[in-house]
Amino acid sequence: MKGQIGVIGAGTMGAGIAQVAAQAGHKVVLTDTNPEQLQKAEKQITASLEKLVEKAKISAEVAQEIKGNLHYSIQLYDHQDATLVIEAIIENLSVKHELFKQLEQIVSATCVLASNTSSLSIASIGASLQNPQRFLGIHFFNPATLMPLVEVIPGVATEQAITNSIENLIASWNKTVVVCKDTPGFIVNRVARPFYGEALRIYEEGVANFETIDWAMTQIGGFKMGPFTLMDYIGNDINYTVTETVFAAFYYDPRFKPSFTQKRHMEAGFLGRKSGRGFYSYAENASPLQTNEDRQLGQAIFERILVLLINEACDAVFMQVASPTAVDLAMTKGVNYPKGLLAWADELGAQWVLDRLEKLFAEYGEDRYRPNPLLRKVAREGSKFIS
Ligand SMILES: NC(=O)c1ccc[n+]([C@@H]2O[C@H](COP(=O)([O-])OP(=O)(O)OC[C@H]3O[C@@H](n4cnc5c(N)ncnc54)[C@H](O)[C@@H]3O)[C@@H](O)[C@H]2O)c1
Repeated sequence: MKGQIGVIGAGTMGAGIAQVAAQAGHKVVLTDTNPEQLQKAEKQITASLEKLVEKAKISAEVAQEIKGNLHYSIQLYDHQDATLVIEAIIENLSVKHELFKQLEQIVSATCVLASNTSSLSIASIGASLQNPQRFLGIHFFNPATLMPLVEVIPGVATEQAITNSIENLIASWNKTVVVCKDTPGFIVNRVARPFYGEALRIYEEGVANFETIDWAMTQIGGFKMGPFTLMDYIGNDINYTVTETVFAAFYYDPRFKPSFTQKRHMEAGFLGRKSGRGFYSYAENASPLQTNEDRQLGQAIFERILVLLINEACDAVFMQVASPTAVDLAMTKGVNYPKGLLAWADELGAQWVLDRLEKLFAEYGEDRYRPNPLLRKVAREGSKFIS
C-alpha cells in the first residue's frame, strides 16, 4: 500500500502538491492554520479534477477516487500516520522552525520531512530538527499540477538513502526529478537569472525597448515567452525579490545584480498582469507595441542573453550543483526553455560561446561577463558538455 502523504500549507503550492500526490494514488492530508484557505484549496482541487474529466484525461470515477484520497484539516496532529510530510507554508525561517519542532513530536521516527522552500537553505530549516538526517528539500514549480520538474535537495545532514527513496517516489508521481546541491536558487532560480537580468540591462543601456527584446528572444531565440512578458506574468515584486535574494545569498556577486528598472516598476505598483500594468499595459486601450524587427539587432540581443545563460549553466555544473544533464532537464522542464543550455552550447560550440563572452568582458570590464572556467576548459579541449 502507498504511504500517506502530508502537506502543510494549503496556499498556491500546497494545494497543487496535495493534488499531485492524491492523483498518484496516495491518501493525502492537507493542513493549514486558516480554515478558509482549506476550503479554497478544496474548491480549487475539485474544479481542477472536473476539468480533467471534461477533457477526458480521467474518468469521473477516478476523479471521485482522487477526491476521496484527500482529507483537509486544521489539526497538525492529523499528520501522525504520514510517511512523508511536505511543508509549503510562508517563506519565513522562524515560522518554519516552529512548525517542524511541533511536527517532529507528532510523526513517526521513520517519517520523511521536507520543505518546498524556494529561497531558504535546506541546512538552515533542518537545523531546528532533532533528526535532520530525514529532512530535505522537495521543490515543486508553480502550478505544481502542470509543471513537470521537481528539484530534490539534500541538505548537508540528509542521509543518502532518504534522498534516493524520495527521488524514486517523486518520479513515480509522473514528475521529472533532478537532484541538486543546497545552494542559492537551487538550479532553475539560479541559472535563469540572466534571462531577466541581462534583458533589463540591455534595455537600460538603451539598446532596445521591451517589445524588441521580447521579440528577439521569442522569434529569433525560440523561447516561449520574452523576458518582459514573463516578468509581468510572474509579477515584478516576486521576480525582483528572487533576484535580490539570490544576489545577497551569493555574497553580492555582480553576476546576479538586481535592476533599478525592475525595482522602480515594483515600487510604482507596476507589478505586471495582476496589477493591470507592468512593463506592458494590460488595459483595453493600451497603445500598440513598438517592435523594431531589425534581424541583426535581434540576433545580437538573443546571443548576448543566451551566452550569459550558458555561462550560468556552466557555473552550476562547475560548482557541482548538478550534472550537465540535470541542469538541462531543469531548464527545459522547469521553465520551458526550447533547448537545454548545455546541449545548446554543444551545438553552437563552446568556443563560439566563449568568444562572445570574452568580447563582452573586454568591452565592459565587469565581473558579470567573466567566462566560467568549465566553459574555457571545454572550449580548449574541443569537447562537449553532454556526452
Ligand atoms: N508560489 C510559488 O511560485 C512557489 C514556487 C515554489 C516554491 N514556493 C515555496 O512554497 C512555499 C509556499 O508558497 P505559496 O506561494 O504556496 O504561499 P501561499 O501564501 O500561497 O500559501 C501559504 C499557506 O501557508 C499557510 N500557513 C502559514 N503559516 C502556517 C503554519 N504555521 N501552519 C500551517 N499553515 C500555515 C497560510 O495560511 C497559506 O495558506 C514557500 O516556502 C515558497 O517559497 C512557492
